[in-house]
Amino acid sequence: MRGTNVLVTGASGGIGGACAELFAAHGATVYLTDVNDDTGRAFTATLGANAYYRHLDVTSETDWADATAAMAAAGHDITVLVNSAGAAMKATLADTTLDQFRRMIDLNLVGTFLGLKTAAAAMVGGGSVINLASLRGVLATAELGAYGAAKFGVRALTKVAALELADRGIRVNSVCPGSIETEITSVSDFADDDVEAYVRSIPMQRRGAPEEVAKVIRFLAADDSSYVTGTDLLVDGGQAAGVRTPKISNEKV
Ligand SMILES: NC(=O)c1ccc[n+]([C@@H]2O[C@H](COP(=O)([O-])OP(=O)(O)OC[C@H]3O[C@@H](n4cnc5c(N)ncnc54)[C@H](O)[C@@H]3O)[C@@H](O)[C@H]2O)c1
Repeated sequence: MRGTNVLVTGASGGIGGACAELFAAHGATVYLTDVNDDTGRAFTATLGANAYYRHLDVTSETDWADATAAMAAAGHDITVLVNSAGAAMKATLADTTLDQFRRMIDLNLVGTFLGLKTAAAAMVGGGSVINLASLRGVLATAELGAYGAAKFGVRALTKVAALELADRGIRVNSVCPGSIETEITSVSDFADDDVEAYVRSIPMQRRGAPEEVAKVIRFLAADDSSYVTGTDLLVDGGQAAGVRTPKISNEKV
């Protein structure tokens, strides 16, 4: 991936961090961005000379403009954008405050919109954008209404951008992870969940690792996927494939 200039949001850890690490290991120039600056800087320092850290709050249009201007000024015109920054919250719609709902939309959907808008202007030589949607943006999930609405929206934006940017050689796809072991799935909102029962419901009987999502994102960033745009790629251990019926005896069927 030499000659590839990658901007990753939410890159201090989790899926964004795994992407940055994988891209850097394959010779790309990588700009890691986040709001968690201390962790981001320390992590970036482990990735070698072609990895840079910048503060970028994805909800700030100014931060987006500054980050892409800095990349261009350094001679690193952006060729790959990974919109990974995000957060989830768990509550019924009745228990979700307006502020919480707006926060979910702002961070997960407006952040992706600003990234796409910026990328459209900055990717002068074409490129690839990968948006982190979610299985929760494919299958409606009780108690994940605000997050799910944002992620359904991310998939819609992905397809619209793919249509609008195809003639400029910019491909836009989304990745929809199921349950991946990162900070986002260990926050207090999910602490009461019966994780073992949940894992048993996954056809592959395990949660995914951030590196398993990063490899799919790398495929969408690289020429290997040169005819793929406007699609959603599920990385969910089979969860969206359908429903497994519980084992029941033949007499009852
Ligand atoms: N982990 C999962 O199971 C899972 C499943 C489906 C989708 N996703 C999506 O994948 C993406 C990455 O999630 P993750 O699991 O790596 O979570 P994570 O919590 O490990 O990482 C998210 C990162 O985003 C950063 N961030 C938060 N607010 C920000 C802001 N305003 N601007 C910039 N950065 C900000 C955080 O500091 C953090 O480093 C998210 O969009 C998430 O919705 C994750």
